[in-house]
Amino acid sequence: MCGIIGYAGHRPAVPLLIEGLRRLEYRGYDSAGVAYIEAGALRLLRAEGKLGELEKKINGRDVTMATTGIGHTRWATHGVPVERNAHPHKDNSGRLALIHNGIIENYQERKNELLELGYTFASETDTEVLVNLIAEGVKETGSILRAMSWAFARVEGAYAVALVSPDEPGVVYAARKSSPLVFGQGVGENFVASDIPAFLPYTREVAFLEDGELVRLDANSWQVFDAATLEPVDKPLHHITWDVQSAQKGGYKHFMLKEIFEQPRVVADCLAGRVDLRAGRVRLPELDGLEPPRRLTIVACGTSYHAGLWGAALIESWARIPVRVEIASEFRYRDLLLDGDDVVLAVSQSGETADTLAGMRRARELGARVLGLCNVVGSTVSREAERVVYTQAGPEISVASTKAMCSQLTVLYLLALYWGAAKGTLPAEVAARALTGVHGLPQVIEAELPRMRERACELARKYASVRSFMYLGRGQSFPLALEGALKLKEISYIHAEGYASGEMKHGPIALIEPDFPTFALALRDPLFPKVKSNLEEVQARDGRIVALTHPGLDLAVDDPWIIPEVWGPLNAFLALPCLQLFAYEMADYLGKDVDQPRNLAKSVTVE
Ligand code: F6R
Repeated sequence: MCGIIGYAGHRPAVPLLIEGLRRLEYRGYDSAGVAYIEAGALRLLRAEGKLGELEKKINGRDVTMATTGIGHTRWATHGVPVERNAHPHKDNSGRLALIHNGIIENYQERKNELLELGYTFASETDTEVLVNLIAEGVKETGSILRAMSWAFARVEGAYAVALVSPDEPGVVYAARKSSPLVFGQGVGENFVASDIPAFLPYTREVAFLEDGELVRLDANSWQVFDAATLEPVDKPLHHITWDVQSAQKGGYKHFMLKEIFEQPRVVADCLAGRVDLRAGRVRLPELDGLEPPRRLTIVACGTSYHAGLWGAALIESWARIPVRVEIASEFRYRDLLLDGDDVVLAVSQSGETADTLAGMRRARELGARVLGLCNVVGSTVSREAERVVYTQAGPEISVASTKAMCSQLTVLYLLALYWGAAKGTLPAEVAARALTGVHGLPQVIEAELPRMRERACELARKYASVRSFMYLGRGQSFPLALEGALKLKEISYIHAEGYASGEMKHGPIALIEPDFPTFALALRDPLFPKVKSNLEEVQARDGRIVALTHPGLDLAVDDPWIIPEVWGPLNAFLALPCLQLFAYEMADYLGKDVDQPRNLAKSVTVE
């Protein structure tokens, strides 16, 4: 996820672009850059780090002449967050500058073709490949507009891009496929950006670009085209009434809610370029050349630990690799039995969690190989791990982790398939089913989220007065029960316990009474009859039950929450948002500061 903005008008473009980027910083903040046209020349300024670093580079220069330009704030997906990888990128001739949000899945193929044609590359990014492909398109077609159409026909993946060139000073081109892009119409000025807050102080008249659309804008005119045919498209303008702050949250009340609703996109981005349905296999080039582990230890904290527990069962089952999952703050202090036959996988959204880092370092000292599964490119986990698989989830702003867990589950699912294929332990028909299932998952989650939220609201109103909740699950649902309880306690401050249902009779059942309700995960799986009988024990003690369950299951509880059934392990991806939404609605109903719960920070960098 990155932030992009383009401007053509009468104001000095550079300060306006910087100001717009500041309002998009929640979309990415590891490097930033601008390109602008000044006296017929293309100028580029880029800097590693937050926007302030770019401003330092601009300070002292007279940039007031340029009235057309593009700006980018980056959240790295290809290449570490250093200046050479920052956007904009120029083509080899230096006549085009491009910014990009998204992932070009087949960039390596296109790059190889361009290398054969003599193109050279200064960065590791897919964006530099795309801008050179457009340059090649200009040679083929004779115009930038046609060249963009020509290039988009040759790339797969997700993109929102904006481009400027001194050959058409005063013009910005922009286009999208599967990444957000909005156009803003001002008076004597026009804008394009990944999100409305970028230009909201200047105009409230916007047009939402759809997939496969391309816009050409200058100070006084704009036209949207179908990117494939270049036929003009009529776009209605919408008037925006939000203020900047709510616009940054996409109209949602909190970042947490926005991030829960981003999960379909997160799964799609995480799968981008990694699932080859035709070949029936997973591509994880980051791990190519590495033997599958003989023994695997997953080390993580909090929500990432719960993701690890869930993934471990799949890796064991599909890849037949023995896996243990360790809480990093325990693991690091134990008298560990690790050697060169062990692989340790550190799972961390931030890549900066102190205990996880210490666990990695300890494992390395003992001779184990250390891999990272992480969201932040350039973070300490990503730098210290031998290899890293990124979750590509974009920045997570809310303290409570939601979309990051969804992306971790996706990567762990892919890892189980990847190692299963490498070891030949996974029947081809299971692999094919797993791949088509996960490929179709984003649409299923997307369709269900509004209904899930409604049900979460109803239940939150009913249960908001309780002081404790028990979360129960078995098998693959046990880590989800732990996660449901964690979410509820951290944002609503209601005491919650996550338990394996079968453990209830070993003590915790003593707690059950009408004011101590249970949230059960009672999905269709081989353990359902066992879960059902555990819940009957709860009911025998007058415990009220909310049960997340599937259609057609024989279960009589106070509050069934029926969600659609998908294939096997993928059901977790539909249960997870329900748990998150229930906790969210409880906390919001109780008036808690959802995005910034008390006593918590986004990244626990102290021991
Ligand atoms: C819970 C939460 C934390 C983190 C934990 C690990 O909502 O956010 O439990 O999951 O602090 O953080 P990372 O994944 O950054 O290592």
